[in-house]
Amino acid sequence: MAKDLEGKTILLGVTGSIAAYKAPAILRKLKSLGADVIVAMTKAGTEFVTPLTFKALSGNSVLVDMFEPATEWQIEHVILAQKVDLVLIAPATANIIGKIASGIADDMVSLTVMAAKASVVIAPAMNVNMYENPIVGENIKKLEGVGYTFVEPGVGVLATGVEGRGRLAELEEIVEKVCELLRASPMNCDLPGEGNLVRKGEI
Ligand SMILES: Cc1cc2nc3c(=O)[nH]c(=O)nc-3n(C[C@H](O)[C@H](O)[C@H](O)COP(=O)(O)O)c2cc1C
Repeated sequence: MAKDLEGKTILLGVTGSIAAYKAPAILRKLKSLGADVIVAMTKAGTEFVTPLTFKALSGNSVLVDMFEPATEWQIEHVILAQKVDLVLIAPATANIIGKIASGIADDMVSLTVMAAKASVVIAPAMNVNMYENPIVGENIKKLEGVGYTFVEPGVGVLATGVEGRGRLAELEEIVEKVCELLRASPMNCDLPGEGNLVRKGEI
């Protein structure tokens, strides 16, 4: 069966949210659909999941430090930004959303987004009070206004034990949005059998 994301390169940005532990499953799903996935992390993101995990799962070097000498395949942010077909930030913190909305580019995630011409999908994850903070709302509205796509967080019990909206959207919803933007069929993205590495509710 054809893999829907074959030939596509996706930059997965991982930021400092407790939901970062779900990012490896997102990466695996994208890879199972044929995508080449390159991971960029903020420093805070590395506090939650190690770059080694993403390197092992993606088979690519993980970008964290913009001042590090170029990786083995000499990718730096401008070349990388041109190479990718889509940027997905999952999970996205309130901080990274604010930075991108303000034109700040001082970490590998915001820097790559700034340099990219590709579609950008942002899946926020945060405490309900943060998500309902009008500043976060204004930042999201601003980014949607210039063409960024958001995958709305779900309602549920958050890491703090509080219930409300802020939980990272389900993996399927995030991947479907990616497929949709890359003009692949969202239906076919939910492959049965071995391609379907993670099922709803599994993470
Ligand atoms: C245990 C813990 C969990 C956190 N979870 C979140 C979160 O889910 N969403 C969020 O926006 N910030 C969260 N933060 C705060 C961010 O890590 C902090 O704002 C950080 O500066 C974000 O940096 P980054 O956007 O560069 O990754 C958390 C902090 C800690 C210590």
